[in-house]
Amino acid sequence: MNCGLVPEIVLKVAVSCWAKRNGFVECVSDVDTSGWLDVSWLEGFRGVVEAIRFCSKLEFFMSIVTGSVSESLRSFLSKPKQMLIDGEWADAVSGQTFDVYNPATAQVIAQAAEGGEPDIDAAVKAARAAFETGPWSTMTPSERGKLIWKVGDLIEQHNDELAQLETIDNGKPFSVARVADVPLSADMFRYMAGWATKIEGNTIPISVPYAPGAQFNALTLREPVGVVGQIIPWNFPLLMAAWKLAPALTCGCTVVLKVAEQTPLSALRLGELIQEAGVPAGVVNIVTGFGETAGAALAAHDNVDKVAFTGSTEVGKLIVKAAAGNLKKVSLELGGKSPNVIFKDADLAAAIPGAANAIFFNHGQCCCAGSRLYVEQEVFDEVSAGIAEQAKQIHVGDGFDESTTMGPLVSQEQFDRVTNYLDLGRSAGAQMICGGDSIDRDGYFVNPTVMVETSESMQVVQEEIFGPVVAAMPFQDSDDLIARANDSVYGLAAGVWSRDGAKAHRVAKAMRAGTVWINCYNVFDAALPFGGYKQSGWGREMGHEVLNNYLETKAICMSL
Ligand code: NAI
Ligand code: MG
Repeated sequence: MNCGLVPEIVLKVAVSCWAKRNGFVECVSDVDTSGWLDVSWLEGFRGVVEAIRFCSKLEFFMSIVTGSVSESLRSFLSKPKQMLIDGEWADAVSGQTFDVYNPATAQVIAQAAEGGEPDIDAAVKAARAAFETGPWSTMTPSERGKLIWKVGDLIEQHNDELAQLETIDNGKPFSVARVADVPLSADMFRYMAGWATKIEGNTIPISVPYAPGAQFNALTLREPVGVVGQIIPWNFPLLMAAWKLAPALTCGCTVVLKVAEQTPLSALRLGELIQEAGVPAGVVNIVTGFGETAGAALAAHDNVDKVAFTGSTEVGKLIVKAAAGNLKKVSLELGGKSPNVIFKDADLAAAIPGAANAIFFNHGQCCCAGSRLYVEQEVFDEVSAGIAEQAKQIHVGDGFDESTTMGPLVSQEQFDRVTNYLDLGRSAGAQMICGGDSIDRDGYFVNPTVMVETSESMQVVQEEIFGPVVAAMPFQDSDDLIARANDSVYGLAAGVWSRDGAKAHRVAKAMRAGTVWINCYNVFDAALPFGGYKQSGWGREMGHEVLNNYLETKAICMSL
C-alpha cells in the first residue's frame, strides 16, 4: 500500500514549523520532498523517523546561527557583553570592545568589553572594599559556604546552557562539555563550599629555650590572603574559572578574574549566576580584555595581594616579574609536555585507547596532554598503529554536530601554531602515520596526528604544541626510560601503563611530575591536587592543597 503522503506531510509540517520559528520560510521552501512519494508503509515509517531527525538536526544547526539554541542562551548572546565590576555590569572605560569568535566557523558571535588598566583598577578597588568593609568580611564561614554551594547548584541547573556556551566559544563538543566541563565546575564549587567551615589552625606547644619557666599559649589562625587577581586561559573556560574562584571564595578572599580573550562568554554567564546566588557586590569582579593590557595591569597592581595564573610558561614568567613590584604572592599552573609510558606487559586493549584519550582529549589543548608517548620496543609498532587507528575513528567537526568527537582548535593563532609544529616535525624527519594536516573548511580544524621517528632532540618532542599531536618513541629499559621521560623543562603530569603494580609505582615515584596516572589518564577530581614540578608551575589547584594558595598563616602567642 502506498503511503508516500505521510512522510511528505510530516516533513513539510516539521520543516515549516522550524522555518516559521526561525524566520527561514523562503530558504526551506526549496526543500525537495518529491522523493518521499511512492514508497511502502515500512519505508514511509522510516521516512517519518528520518524527517523528524532531519528537522531536529537542522533546527539544532540553524539555531546556533540564529541564536535559538535555548531561550536563555539567545537572550544572553543578544545582550552586549559587559564586565562585572562592583556588582554592576559595565562597559570598558575606553568604550572599546573586541570580537568573540566561534572557532568552528571563524564567525564573530559577540562583542566583549575590552577592559584595560582603568577597569582593572576599578575592579581592584571594589574587591578591596568588599574584602575590608563589605558583608564578605563579616560573613560566617557557614554563610559563605552556603553561597558557594548555591553557585554549584545554579551551574548544575544551567548545565546545557553553559555547555552550549563552551561549544560556541571554545569549539569543544557539546556532548563533552555537558558531561565534563560543566558538572566538574559545579562539583568544584560544592567541594570547596564544604571547606569553608573547616579551615583551621593549630595549637602549638612551644619551649622557648631562652625563657626558662615561662608559659605560653600559642596557636595559628588561617586567614584569607586578601584581594586576589586571577588570570585564566581558554582551554576549559568555565572549569578554569571554577578552579580559581571557588577556593579563593572559600578562604574569604575577594577576586578580580581576568578571563581569556578567546573565550569570555561562560565566565560572564557564571558572573550572573554568582549574583543570582547572592554573593555580595565586589566579591567577584570579572574583567574581559587582552593579556598584555588587562592581564598585565592585574598582575602588576599594587593593591592586589596575590595573583593566581593558569596559562603558558612564557607568560607565567612575566607574571612573576610583574608581581615583584609589591611582592604579591604568586601561584602558577603552566604548560607541560607530559610523558605517557606503555610497557609491553600493559593491558594494551586499555592502554591504546587510553593513550589516544591522553593526547586527543580537548583536541590536545590540555596542559597535561600525554604528548610524549614512550612505548616498550617489542610493542611499539602495535601500539603506535593502534593509536593511529583510534585517531582515524575520531570525527572532527562542529562541536554541535552529534557525531563530532573532536572540535576545532580555539583560534587562528592556535591553528597557526599547531600547523607550524606539524611542518617543523616533518622537516626534522618525523613521520606522520595519521593526520599531519589541517582540514580545508572554515574554522580551525586539524586532524589528530601520530608522529613516529621522533627523538628528544626535536622541537616537537621538547616544546608544548597544545594540539592533537603525539610524538611516539620506543624505549628498551626502565633506567633509560626514566631519564628520557624526565628530560623536559616541564613536570606537570605523566602516565604509566603496566600490569606489574610494583613496577608502575616505582616508575611513578621516579617521575618528576605533579600527577602520575597509572593505567588511566586525565582523571580529575575536585579533591585531587593538580599542579606542576619544574617549569610547570608553583602551588597546586584543587584538593585541600589549593587552600594554601589563598591563605596566610598567623601565629598568635600569649604569655600565661
Ligand atoms: P597565554 O599564557 O598567553 O594566555 C593565558 C592567559 O594569560 C590569558 O588570559 C591571557 O590574556 C593572559 N595573558 C597573556 N599575556 C599576559 C601578560 N603579559 N600578563 C598577564 N596576563 C597575560 O596563552 P595563549 O597565548 O592563549 O596560548 C599560548 C600557548 O600557551 C598555548 O599554545 C599553550 O602551549 C600554552 N597554554 C597553556 C595553558 C595551560 O593550561 N597550561 C593554557 C593556555 C595556553
Ligand atoms: Mg598569549
